[in-house]
Amino acid sequence: MQFRVPAAVILSLAFTACGPSEPAQTEVPQEPGQPAAPEVTEAPLPFQLTAEQEAGKVVYETMCWSCHGTAGRGDGPAVLAGAVASPGDLTQRSFSDSDIRRIQAAFQAAAGDLSPDNPHMANVLSIIEVEDFNLAAGFLAALSYPTELPGSALAGHANYVLRCQSCHGPTGEGNGPGAEVLELAPANFTQDTLLAARNFQAAFDKIQLGGGGVHGSAMPPWGVMLKAGEIWDLVAYISSFQPGILPPAPGTGE
Ligand code: HEC
Ligand code: HEC
Repeated sequence: MQFRVPAAVILSLAFTACGPSEPAQTEVPQEPGQPAAPEVTEAPLPFQLTAEQEAGKVVYETMCWSCHGTAGRGDGPAVLAGAVASPGDLTQRSFSDSDIRRIQAAFQAAAGDLSPDNPHMANVLSIIEVEDFNLAAGFLAALSYPTELPGSALAGHANYVLRCQSCHGPTGEGNGPGAEVLELAPANFTQDTLLAARNFQAAFDKIQLGGGGVHGSAMPPWGVMLKAGEIWDLVAYISSFQPGILPPAPGTGE
């Protein structure tokens, strides 16, 4: 069949800046006496952030994101502009409680010594309170989850809402509004066999190449616009639709 991308997908491509963006909250004003507008649902986060992680996210997005990037991959705008050396990729680093305590201790030790040999610390320490650094460091465990994949499920969530839920649906069951115009049903991630078999590479390839490159479906080839890291973020996120594929999320105690 003819390859068609719903208008909503094209619009979302046109309006997506590269920064970390909260998905827009769509609020439809109600006229008295009018029938209620259909509820706009949005795919949930891969796991519920704790209050501390929420606070750390705010610090991360204001003070760390410019270098460390949306998913912690070390590709923030300051790095891409060549202003700072890349901090390296944190998505597969472990941030256990003891790792975070070690990072916090190193930060506090460096606080008295703004050496130009340590550009990271010199820049960050001159503008941030220790408590805020600690919150952001704690958030890294949530951002790098799951460490077994080179992607961040949290970062994948934002792209899923913008680019995937129109077909695959907010619950991942393949029932988004775009599914109605497709001959071939979008995959249901809650029962997907590739993910259940933990064949993450095959899911990656499918997203990158799309249906046209695989078996002629209406699944767009996302590799033309998403970087490999962003596709791994999506693999991590869609894996969260089936319990048991990914290990328990940090802070959830599940
Ligand atoms: C100006 C750019 C920049 C900013 C802003 C920045 N970082 Fe970094 N970060 C780096 C660089 C470069 C490195 C690697 C070299 C180094 O440690 O100096 C790094 C390394 C790290 C590491 C790894 C340390 C280790 O143990 O290997 C952590 C954790 C980290 N940063 C956390 C943060 C947090 C949390 C923030 C925000 C509060 C932040 N960074 C803000 C540039 C930055
Ligand atoms: C235009 C509708 C549409 C959009 C938008 C869309 N998909 Fe799909 N997707 C499909 C269809 C249809 C299939 C099933 C047909 C097939 O497998 O070729 C599919 C299949 C898949 C599969 C394969 C599952 C399997 O077991 O084979 C993955 C993974 C996937 N999509 C991920 C995504 C991700 C991630 C996004 C967002 C970046 C996305 N899709 C956006 C329509 C869409």
